[in-house]
Order: sequence, then C-alpha cells, then structure tokens
Amino acid sequence: MVLTAEENRRLTEVGPGTPMGALLRRYWHPVAAVGEFDHSPTKAVRLMGEDLVLYRMPDGDFGLIEPHCPHRRANLVNGYPEVGGIRCSYHGWKFDLEGRCVNQPFEETVSDATRFRDSICSPAYRAEAKFGLVWAYLGPDPAPLIPTWEPFTYENCFRQIVLHVVDCNWLQCQENSIDPVHFEWLHDNWYAGRGGETERYRPPHAELGFDEWEYGFQYRRRHQGEDETYDSWLDGRLCIMPNLFAPLHFEWRVPMDDTHTLSVVWVAERAAANREPYVQDTIPHWWGRAIDDDGKPITTHVLGQDVMSWTGQGVIADRTKEHLGRSDRGVQLFRNRLIADLEAVERGEDPSGLVRDEAANLVIEFPNSLRRLFVEPPTPEQLEQRKRRLKQLMPGSRPEDFFFLLEGQPDWVRHEWEYATGQRDDRPTTSEGV
Ligand code: FES
Ligand SMILES: [Fe+2]
Repeated sequence: MVLTAEENRRLTEVGPGTPMGALLRRYWHPVAAVGEFDHSPTKAVRLMGEDLVLYRMPDGDFGLIEPHCPHRRANLVNGYPEVGGIRCSYHGWKFDLEGRCVNQPFEETVSDATRFRDSICSPAYRAEAKFGLVWAYLGPDPAPLIPTWEPFTYENCFRQIVLHVVDCNWLQCQENSIDPVHFEWLHDNWYAGRGGETERYRPPHAELGFDEWEYGFQYRRRHQGEDETYDSWLDGRLCIMPNLFAPLHFEWRVPMDDTHTLSVVWVAERAAANREPYVQDTIPHWWGRAIDDDGKPITTHVLGQDVMSWTGQGVIADRTKEHLGRSDRGVQLFRNRLIADLEAVERGEDPSGLVRDEAANLVIEFPNSLRRLFVEPPTPEQLEQRKRRLKQLMPGSRPEDFFFLLEGQPDWVRHEWEYATGQRDDRPTTSEGV
C-alpha cells in the first residue's frame, strides 16, 4: 500500500483542525517529567502545533494554558502559579484551570462593579501528574483516563525518565515501534556493517509474528537457527496506539508539531534484594543526546541509532516513494488501524485504545510475560551477563555509557542506579536533575 501525498499528509499533520490532530487529541500525552518542576514552576511546551505553558501549583496539581496573557500579551511562562491557577507577572491578572480570568488586582481595587474579568478567558487544557510524568489532554470532554500500564505498578524499581527532541515527524518514529527487522540491521549489524566485517552479520530473521491487541499490536521475531523458545519470539514487544512503544521500557513519540517529536523514555529496573523497599520520591529525569556538537548522529547508543534512521527518512518521510515488502506487514497493520481510528473520530466515535473504565484501569496487563523480570531482584551474575550482552550490542560505548538507550546520563543518576541495583553501597549525595 503506497500512500498518496494526500494520504501521507492525513497521517502526519498534527496541528489544530487536521484529521490526525483531532485523533491524537483524544489521548493523554506525556509532555514533561514532574522533577523538572523542582527547578522552575513553569515550563514552555509545544504540543501538536500549539505553544502552551505547563505550570505546577503550590498544591502539586498542574495546569496548562495558552502562553500569552489576554491583557497585553505577556508570557505566562514567567507567571506565578498559585492555588487554582496562574497569575501573570506583568500586571497580576489571574487565570483558573479553565483559563477564566478570576482576578484583576488594579481593576478590582478601583471598581469592583465592572466585572471586566468575566468577559476574559484564555485557551486552557487539562494536565495531570502521574507515574513521574506530567500528562496533557487537548481533546474534548469527557477525557479518558491516563492508562495504568502494567510496568507503572511494579514495586522496588529504580526508574528514570529520559527526554530528547527528534527533528522529524512523529509517525516515522512510531512506525519503528512495529518494525522487527530493523533490530537486525540497524542495531545488531551496525558495527559490523560500518566496519566492513560482513562475516560478523547476525543470522537473518526467519519469522515474524504480529498479533492485534486491544491497545495496539504485539510483534514477535526470531532469527535463522532460533526456535520458538527464543526470547524475542516468546515475549513480544508492544506497539501501543497511537504513539507508544513498550518493550521492557516505554518510549513515547509525542508530536510537538509536524516536524519535531518529543521522545519520552520511561525505564524501570528491579532493585537489589537488600535495597527493598526501594522507593523514589521523585523519578530522576535527564535530557539525552542523539546528535553530537558537530551535528553528527551519536550511534553508540541504541536510541541514537534509531534517531539517525528516523531523521534520515526526511523531516516528513515521503511515503509516496516507498516500496513496502513482507517485512513491513506490521507497518501496514498499524497504518490501517490509524486510518480506521481517523474514520471513527470523524464519525464522532472514540478511537481504539482509550481507557474509560476506572476498575479496568487499576492495572492494564501486557500480553507478554516480561513481568517476571520485575518479580525477583537480579542476581549479580545476571547483572554481569546483562552488561556483557549490552557491551556486545554497543561495542563503541564507554564504560560510563552503560545506559544503553541514549548518551548523556548524569553521573549521579548512574550512581543511584548502581546503588539501587546493589553494585555499590554508597548513595549519591546530590539528586540534581538536568
Ligand atoms: S499582560 Fe498579563 S496582566 Fe498585563
Ligand atoms: Fe530500534
């Protein structure tokens, strides 16, 4: 199924008033780490072509509002979050969570009869903190629930959040979430291929499996010489509608606009037995790097390799020039479901995968058995084995780059991870996020 230019636009454009913009606005999206607000109570965010200000009020709740104050257009990113809303720091007008002006200090001092404020309202949206992330919802009421995906409920885990901006459209990032063969070539064979050592190529994939699931798809893969007991065949990886990949961790591809995507990574790893109960008051967050100072892709890390491929497809991949084969069956299934969801929204119905049932949302189980890795703490031997596997996958990495997805993990986060997993006994003294 080669797309026409019109079909490609329909799937990729996310701004207000576009079909895909309307579909994506029906879901909650993570737009920040809660820990970011320890340093500043406001943050400018760009989501689906809209510039917004996200703010944390003194009671810990969040609001999301259009940046420019309706008075004389000062930017509310410089405002004062108060209980119930945010106050503009220029002349003190206050706006509630719905964007209604609820206080105009000078106007109300000189004449409380004008009720001038009642005519003034700014666009505002819902925001909510959960699982260490701040989520935004830009769609119509009633809003669905923020899904309680199973890994969010695992206990005794070291968790971290890694953010970075990818300079391309969201869809090519998400299509990677259902693209099993890329593991072989982009990740497993990267160093052999670039080094001209074709004899070191991994045996090719022999079989792929795609299972549709209520919330998206699960795919499985195995190489020549591997049977049905191979772990990537036994335990599928999940492509969750509309923009989430969930292998052992989460990767959201959040559309900032048509040409930029906020990559939000949420990782949990089981703490050592002697650290139980291991609890984090704030989940550490940091900004990862996929491009070096010379503008070249950083390919020592797995997600850096992915980002290199996504941006290499063009700012918005031209799907009129593709030649899809059998390896792309998952991509086709995903596109077909997106198109069905677009049509559902146009009919006034819910798209697939929304969660509205409180009881069902206590925990949404994944259709694989990877939860077993979080039940028991890893043994030192298992940790060493994992390090060896990662070193094979990332031979170009340095010892300090043990975090396999992106470069840039701060020392104190690595230190805390080593403490949590029992590799060292002293705990870091700083917990400064970036
Ligand atoms: S510009 Fe915001 S109160 Fe005046
Ligand atoms: Fe990848």
